[in-house]
Amino acid sequence: MLEPLIDGHGRAIGDVRISVTDRCNFRCQYCMPAEGLPWLERSAVLTYEEIERVVALLAAMGVHDVRLTGGEPLVRRELWRLVARLSALPEVHDLSLTTNGYLLERQVEQLVAAGLKRVNVSLDSLAQDRFFAMTRRDSLGAVLAGLEAAERHPELRPIKVNAVALKNFTEAEVVAFAELARRKPYEVRFIEFMPLDGDRNWDQSQVLPNAEVRRLIGAVHPLEEIGRARSGTARRYRFADGQGEIGFISPVTEPFCGDCNRIRLTSDGKLRTCLFSVNETDLRAPLREGASDAELERIVRDAVWHKELKHHVNEPGFVPPARSMSQIGG
Ligand code: 5AD
Ligand code: SF4
Repeated sequence: MLEPLIDGHGRAIGDVRISVTDRCNFRCQYCMPAEGLPWLERSAVLTYEEIERVVALLAAMGVHDVRLTGGEPLVRRELWRLVARLSALPEVHDLSLTTNGYLLERQVEQLVAAGLKRVNVSLDSLAQDRFFAMTRRDSLGAVLAGLEAAERHPELRPIKVNAVALKNFTEAEVVAFAELARRKPYEVRFIEFMPLDGDRNWDQSQVLPNAEVRRLIGAVHPLEEIGRARSGTARRYRFADGQGEIGFISPVTEPFCGDCNRIRLTSDGKLRTCLFSVNETDLRAPLREGASDAELERIVRDAVWHKELKHHVNEPGFVPPARSMSQIGG
């Protein structure tokens, strides 16, 4: 056991998001341009051994929650092999995956057998034509089949469904999403659109504030607040009749930076202390140049010490990071 990993504002880091690839088989409007993005060379991407080494070091400093993301993590070859390595680390207490769900039905069995504990599936529309408009792929059926496959594995809980809400688009379906949460054992959460899109078209007018989503749902299915999720990011509500619950992640209208205990590792081995960081710390070069654990630990602690106090999305002069969500890792 090492000393806890603490930032310069006194926050203990407990959660790491690992992007295993910048590639994706979808082209969501709010994330990637239709033609995709220039992918990293394979040699630029950390190997499973390298990722395992970083996670083991972080876990020894108290970073017990590990989430695998992308791009789309399931397009990385045999991801279950990485899951198996990480779930074998005794200090990794929670191991989860954020996926678009397209490849989940085929892979869920092996992922669960390898020790995956939880899954978040991105799903922004429940109607085939609107799903296509959002993701530029005609794959709603495959994603729903992926969710059903996850349901057949009771070891994999909770199953979360993340819907990114866009103004003048998502309003029409918020009640349908609420009804999905009532009908299925899924925790549905609405996420506000953040300035991390590959097209760099984001502006405030495209953000559908979660207060509005909550109002639209509450008018049909009354809601009662439960409180914040353990991670602090989602505000949870239950349906007043006791049937199911729903969550709201509001990074734009209600930033939760004060409680942020998270860091991120990009697929090319850069440590990021905020989604909106403009600086990153390279771990790949030291990993490949034979740095000792003590040296790596010093580099990580130094980067984390400078973790941003908060993001500045709502302030004039805000500059989005050079990388988009798929290149950072959700
Ligand atoms: N704003 C908000 N959420 C986003 N995601 C991707 N891009 C954005 C964005 N610009 C979401 C995905 C997925 C998670 C990794 O991040 O839908 O649920
Ligand atoms: Fe792919 Fe996820 Fe980005 Fe959609 S949001 S393009 S599924 S990485």
